[in-house]
Amino acid sequence: MTIPIPAEDPRHVPNRAVIDPSAITENTRAMGTLLEEQTALMAVVKADGYGHGMLTAARAAIEGGATWLGVAHPASALALARADLDAQILTWLFEPHTAKIVLPEVLGSGVDVSVGSPEMLALVSAAAREADRRARVHLKIDTGMGRNGVLPWQIREIGAAMREDDFIQVAGAWTHLTSADDPTDPATDQQAELFDSASEALADEVGPIPLQHIANSAATLTRPDLHRDLVRVGIALYGCPPVPTDVPLRPAMTLTSRLALVKEVGEGHSIGYGRIRTTDRPTRLGLVPIGYADGLHRAGSDQCVLVVRTESGDHRAPQVGRISMDQIVIDLGPNSDARAGDQVFVFGDAGGDPNGPAAATAEDWARAAGTISYEVLTSVSGRVTREVR
Ligand SMILES: Cc1ncc(COP(=O)(O)O)c(C=O)c1O
Repeated sequence: MTIPIPAEDPRHVPNRAVIDPSAITENTRAMGTLLEEQTALMAVVKADGYGHGMLTAARAAIEGGATWLGVAHPASALALARADLDAQILTWLFEPHTAKIVLPEVLGSGVDVSVGSPEMLALVSAAAREADRRARVHLKIDTGMGRNGVLPWQIREIGAAMREDDFIQVAGAWTHLTSADDPTDPATDQQAELFDSASEALADEVGPIPLQHIANSAATLTRPDLHRDLVRVGIALYGCPPVPTDVPLRPAMTLTSRLALVKEVGEGHSIGYGRIRTTDRPTRLGLVPIGYADGLHRAGSDQCVLVVRTESGDHRAPQVGRISMDQIVIDLGPNSDARAGDQVFVFGDAGGDPNGPAAATAEDWARAAGTISYEVLTSVSGRVTREVR
């Protein structure tokens, strides 16, 4: 038996991940301006649209010009296909037990699938027979990631197997870059070279390859030579550029909560587990009912500055002490007029006075916790209500 997590009534929950689909639309449009006409843009909406809601993200990206949608799991691809969106879908990560159940319907829905091993090809071929429909396959080539993908020496054999299979149509060849977020890293050039020679070998076996794709957000921003027929853009669409850029991108998720209480404490008052922080002056502390079970990273404790919206306006308030499971403490300062119930912006766009204080970004939280913005966004847990504005 599978047991769903009991849903909480959003009216009873103070924590919100406020999603701005217009940011995703505009970010998609901005990324699209980098592309030549023949290059299509795939919006990568896996992992529930990097935590933003898969369908919300997909619709917003299509409005911004995306003509492809990419997801890791076939189950996600099926959900997208059922939503009847105006985009081609690609899915790339499956294992035999669930693939046997889901792939026939995925293929029957016209979704493209990736193949990254001879075993995956056999699964797709069997599913295509069951669906009585030719599978459109993108062959994934492992050029250095060491994850999903066939090795260059396997290309000829798998190419011949695809050519001889009436239920397989080669729609594309692709690879994923390990280090595009560091434009000085020679690994990107090495991967591109390996990909090109593997694609040539594949074309020898199966004929011209309609779609070649390599670039993620970072390579889309920095390597026009790798745009090829299709770019697969994820993090940039959500407003977190993985490399410095002039392309205007703005955050699509704002994480907010509300003060549970405010209290005055004296100098030398300790805060939180392990007492990593004690007050250096009398001040007012605000308790915010959001913690690591909501997705904040405990490793990022005591480093980020939040914004609290009080009657007198927006004010910066550093998060102090260790992040707990359900709560954090912010230092409001001795003269704060903040009160229980006031809104707190944990990261994202507070949307107040443009010259007023800005909340931390997902990147700030990532730096504080020694991780990446991707993990910050996708960590926002199921008990945080998503609110689409
Ligand atoms: C295969 C593949 N392509 C593209 C992307 C998008 O990458 P990014 O979010 O860096 O644009 C991802 C995400 O990790 C991915 O797994």
